[in-house]
Amino acid sequence: MRVNISNVTKVYGEIRALSGISIEIAEDVSILTLIGPSGGGKSTILRILGGLEVPDEGGISINGRDVCFESKEDLLKHRRSNGFLFQSFNLFPHKSALENITLPLQTVHGLGRAEAIDKAEKSLKRFGLESHSEKFPFELSGGQQQRVAIARAIAPGPGLLFLDEPTSALDPEMTGEVLDLIVELKNTGQDIILTTHEMGFARQVADRVAFLDRGEISSIGNPDELFDEKLYGIDTRLGKFLSRVTRY
Ligand SMILES: Nc1ncnc2c1ncn2[C@@H]1O[C@H](COP(=O)(O)OP(=O)(O)OP(=O)(O)O)[C@@H](O)[C@H]1O
Ligand SMILES: [Mg+2]
Repeated sequence: MRVNISNVTKVYGEIRALSGISIEIAEDVSILTLIGPSGGGKSTILRILGGLEVPDEGGISINGRDVCFESKEDLLKHRRSNGFLFQSFNLFPHKSALENITLPLQTVHGLGRAEAIDKAEKSLKRFGLESHSEKFPFELSGGQQQRVAIARAIAPGPGLLFLDEPTSALDPEMTGEVLDLIVELKNTGQDIILTTHEMGFARQVADRVAFLDRGEISSIGNPDELFDEKLYGIDTRLGKFLSRVTRY
């Protein structure tokens, strides 16, 4: 993916969620991972990249195309061309797994009923969820729900897939299921930008890791550089963060 974030600022009232951040991501990167303490700005930059939030200053371009935040129509088009998984579970509780996928395909992407069902079934099958297609979210485990939510995000064939803490509400086994699915997506060439608190996963699968703290990119690099053991415990923001999150 080619992503260029240029001097992006986002302010909510008194809070500077993002303070002029810039990131340049080159073609060879297929997974960019954002890590950092709570409140650091990870979800905010993800929402701006996905066109769900408008920056106060700065701009972004994705695969050579500037995102036009001024035009509602362009923004909608941009949103439709990417997939998004929000931080908390986001399936419609009163709809089956299948309906959860067909509904946005019909209403957001304008597909006919038959085509939407066909796409949704393929997407469920791809992730081994076909036997759950008629189940409601409450009949599915947290991991299964999250896989259905990813299947939904993937169904329209998004350019970029944004995953905001896809495993934050899951136990270790379900976390493993969802992380396996993300690796599988990467292996099929899907470009992904995700936030996570799973440092082992970030280290293993990310091509590039950005550390966001207090609305700033305080470090960015390849996982091997960023998760260098020599950093742990060192008196830098990243060093302190890593020694905190890897202590137990
Ligand atoms: N819609 C909003 N209105 C007001 N403040 C917001 C809004 N969204 C985010 N913020 C604030 O902006 C800052 C950055 O929030 P953000 O959600 O991006 O952090 P985060 O890094 O994703 O944290 P976490 O790891 O807890 O998910 C926080 O101080 C948060 O309270
Ligand atoms: Mg967040």
